[in-house]
Amino acid sequence: MKISAPRALALSVAVGHALAAVTQGVSDNIYNRLVEMATISQAAYADLCKIPATITTVEKIYNAQTDINGWVLRDDSRQEIIVVFRGTAGDTNLQLDTNYTLAPFDTLPKCIGCAVHGGYYLGWTSVQDQVESLVQQQAGQYPEYALTVTGHSLGASMAAITASQLSATYEHVTLYTFGEPRTGNLAYASYMNENFEATSPETNRFFRVTHGNDGIPNLPPAEQGYVHSGVEYWSVDPYGPGSTSICTGNEIQCCEAQGGQGVNDAHVTYFGMASGACSW
Ligand SMILES: *[C@@H]1O[C@H](CO)[C@@H](O)[C@H](O)[C@H]1NC(C)=O
Repeated sequence: MKISAPRALALSVAVGHALAAVTQGVSDNIYNRLVEMATISQAAYADLCKIPATITTVEKIYNAQTDINGWVLRDDSRQEIIVVFRGTAGDTNLQLDTNYTLAPFDTLPKCIGCAVHGGYYLGWTSVQDQVESLVQQQAGQYPEYALTVTGHSLGASMAAITASQLSATYEHVTLYTFGEPRTGNLAYASYMNENFEATSPETNRFFRVTHGNDGIPNLPPAEQGYVHSGVEYWSVDPYGPGSTSICTGNEIQCCEAQGGQGVNDAHVTYFGMASGACSW
């Protein structure tokens, strides 16, 4: 569908965004940060096989019914508490992935009219108590530390839902997602953009990283009421700061416009690191 200009404007305003824009190239600082978070997210597929040496593992997050796996980590050198979720690894997770029913976001009543991916909502509620008590304990012990949430694929949507929930309690939560499926409806997307100041790359704290023609950001279909949020950081190969673009506006552009559908080569590899391979 071609969106006419007034309609595109109305959509952008509704999602709390400036009009769509694409800028090629990011600073080395931002790029290195994206690579660091991608490293942790991809290592989460293999029990955190290879993560930066400055990071301490605090505790594992796990639920047997949903097979959600994650960790609370701490980087004392950076004064940061990190929550990471693993992506899909088996049939139990696949059942969550394919449940596109939009579920009312009941655990976050201040997100008015919000609904999120039904499968990932089940994933979230299965670990909510663990996540919240671990974060509370760490934040209580290290009150000056920043709070960062990250993950790839299913782990990306889990990270987004978790970050939205934590941002109701903690200030300045930052979110980095890699190959994130569409996670919620328009009200949820607007809430995310507002809370993570995604109206401009200068203030933004929701980095939605995509790669090449990764087909997962095209799912679930927009026609089913799903809308992306955050500022998209689109990496194309050969990867590097100069080939990473900043895409604002929540339009179908950058990664989604490449037309990929579902899990493909571009989905499993970010910045040269394949999920769980740990050969970096
Ligand atoms: C799909 O998600 C909804 C909302 O979370 C849930 O009520 C429903 O039971 C799920 N369906 C399956 C088959 O798990």
